[in-house]
Amino acid sequence: MNQNLPYRTLLEVDNVENRIEDLIQQMTLTEKIGQMSQFSGRNGIPHDLRESIQQGKVGSILNEVNTDVLNEIQRIAVEESRLGIPLIVGRDVIHGFQTMFPIPLGQAASWNPEIIEEGARISATEAASVGINWTFAPMVDISRDPRWGRIAECLGEDPYLASILGSAMVKGFQGDDLSHPNSIAACAKHFAGYGYSEAGRDYAYVNISENELRNIVLPPFKACADAGVATFMSAFCDINGIPATGNELLMKQILRKEWDYKGFVVSDWDSVIELIKHGFAENSKEAAFEAIQAGIDMEMASRSYQENSEKLLEEGRINIEQINTCVRNILRIKFELGLFENTYTNTAYFPEKGNASYLQSAKQAAIESCVLLKNDYNTLPLKKDKVQNLAIIGPMADDGYEQMGTWTFDGKEEWCKTPLQSIYEMAGNDINIRYARGLETTRSKNRDGFEEALSIARESDTVVMFMGEEAILSGEAHCRADIDLPGFQNELLEEISKLGKSTILVVMAGRPLTLDKTQHYVNSLMYAWHPGTMGGPAIADLLFGEVAPSGKLPVSFPKMVGQIPIYYNHRNSGRPVINGSFMHIDNIPKRPTQTSLGNTSFHFDAGFDPLYPFGFGLSYTSFYYHSIELSTESISLGDFIEISAELTNTGSVEAVEVAQLYIRDLVGSVTRPVRELKGFQRVHLYPGETKTIIFRLHTDDLSFFDRKMKYVTEPGQFDVWIGGDSRANLKTSFYII
Ligand code: NOJ
Repeated sequence: MNQNLPYRTLLEVDNVENRIEDLIQQMTLTEKIGQMSQFSGRNGIPHDLRESIQQGKVGSILNEVNTDVLNEIQRIAVEESRLGIPLIVGRDVIHGFQTMFPIPLGQAASWNPEIIEEGARISATEAASVGINWTFAPMVDISRDPRWGRIAECLGEDPYLASILGSAMVKGFQGDDLSHPNSIAACAKHFAGYGYSEAGRDYAYVNISENELRNIVLPPFKACADAGVATFMSAFCDINGIPATGNELLMKQILRKEWDYKGFVVSDWDSVIELIKHGFAENSKEAAFEAIQAGIDMEMASRSYQENSEKLLEEGRINIEQINTCVRNILRIKFELGLFENTYTNTAYFPEKGNASYLQSAKQAAIESCVLLKNDYNTLPLKKDKVQNLAIIGPMADDGYEQMGTWTFDGKEEWCKTPLQSIYEMAGNDINIRYARGLETTRSKNRDGFEEALSIARESDTVVMFMGEEAILSGEAHCRADIDLPGFQNELLEEISKLGKSTILVVMAGRPLTLDKTQHYVNSLMYAWHPGTMGGPAIADLLFGEVAPSGKLPVSFPKMVGQIPIYYNHRNSGRPVINGSFMHIDNIPKRPTQTSLGNTSFHFDAGFDPLYPFGFGLSYTSFYYHSIELSTESISLGDFIEISAELTNTGSVEAVEVAQLYIRDLVGSVTRPVRELKGFQRVHLYPGETKTIIFRLHTDDLSFFDRKMKYVTEPGQFDVWIGGDSRANLKTSFYII
């Protein structure tokens, strides 16, 4: 293959900005608009695509993963187009390429930036090995609505956690050097507000105050920008009446002006021409105008830029500097990726995909993602020498494809190890294992398989149920209004529970499900999300106590849909919830009563507590937090404070605990959340061991956007808690003076 790119031989300077300017000088308008156009791959190179690339009309391609095709596409671009500019090749590598890691929401339950970075690095290497150089991840949309199918792809409800984990993903995909052959460009998406769609309906309207936008939604995007994320993607949604793809406040004011962002912004799929359907642009020309005006550098899929830019320029609606800016932003990333120097991909130079160390990493990520939600009578871990007859039941026990979750275009189903296979392997001949599916799918509504399931359960001392939702029930455009276990899964669980066996439920799902009823049917409940390729061995290790669970919820689990949105960092309100605010509807008195506070008694039939709070997760041991201390009781603006506590493993099992630090800013010029996560640490402890955990906060860590959208830290009292979840009660206070 000819590596002598025409452009390289022409150019003598190697400074990126000079190289960009040099190219811009030579480019025709068609070639500039070409850079701003991303085409969809078409399983090969049909004549019209070849011609468009030759004419410099294509800047990027997505969804083509055949290395020979990609190398040929790049060859056409660099050898047959006038300026020889290589394409940037995109793909949704969301939680793995061929080796699948847990869905992002599951990874977030690990609260472990290192394992997340490692997963992204492996995904980048696998993807780069076929010729992909850009992923559309991480998705750092904050979501508080488990009805939304895309909650599976996000990193939870908390801006601090999503900031840390999102930047870890960026680092993993991009490595230390974007031009390294196994680095790929990352993309912070969906900018912004997409996770706030009304009632969790995908693509629906987003009504959000600027206070909420800046204090809750934008911080993870800012963190990704600070971590050097190469690209941003505009959201599909209409935010406060201005669709994100035409939103100057977001793209121009915040991203470019306030954050000084130097990468490029791609639209979401067709989101430029969808400005017409939003009723924001009359036709494709106006749609292109709005998007260019807002600062969307590259148009994904639709062709409104190609069709209209010339006319818009002629009419003076846009000017050539706007186009040049977009092109500069795109070329900058192409240069940084080293695409001009290393255009082609040779699969042989890369490690084998799905190799043992990748699979081991996927297993570790799955182990750390699982959250133990209930464990009555220490039913878990199972003891190999005590369990004699084990029944494994459920539609999710032995289905590799379903355990991979959403966005698994390239995931290798045949590499997946299911829980059933893994438990067989682990138990060997020591345990008599029987398996019944019970229900054809999680959605099945018939009892045909119940009897077989019940009969193997009767013959067993322990029953492990694998239930949840298939992969297709979450992800883009797959939302649910009823988020109980679908189908007759609860019915089957109820029947099994009547047998009085030791019953464990492992849920595999793409979202928090409402488990209020379900949890009563089982002794132990483990949430495995969609755990990816190595979900089976990870779950087997956890069930049999090879390792203790350490996952913590990155999102609150509602008791019922009527509680949504329910999240830990809410505002207090003028009539905050007091104990007893929950009363079953049957018990509410006939006439209103006065509380001792003089308020009319305030009842909410769902109660105000979630079923499982943010940050929650059990272990096979117990932890005791005590002796909270401050380095000082008051600090001045610009100072640090240290908050420490002792953490003791009071049980008999070696384990990792995620220690969490929450603060409350008691009085603000705008109201502040009742708690905010400001730090966390994974602490490994042997039985009986105590460690001092120390968190260090700078007054800047306590900043927020005030009434005038100024980023400030305000003096006053701050309460602070350290503990194992967002209800932590080990508390002290300090002051900023
Ligand atoms: C639409 C999705 O919203 C986005 O997340 C994805 O990256 C693009 N399609 C490309 O597949």
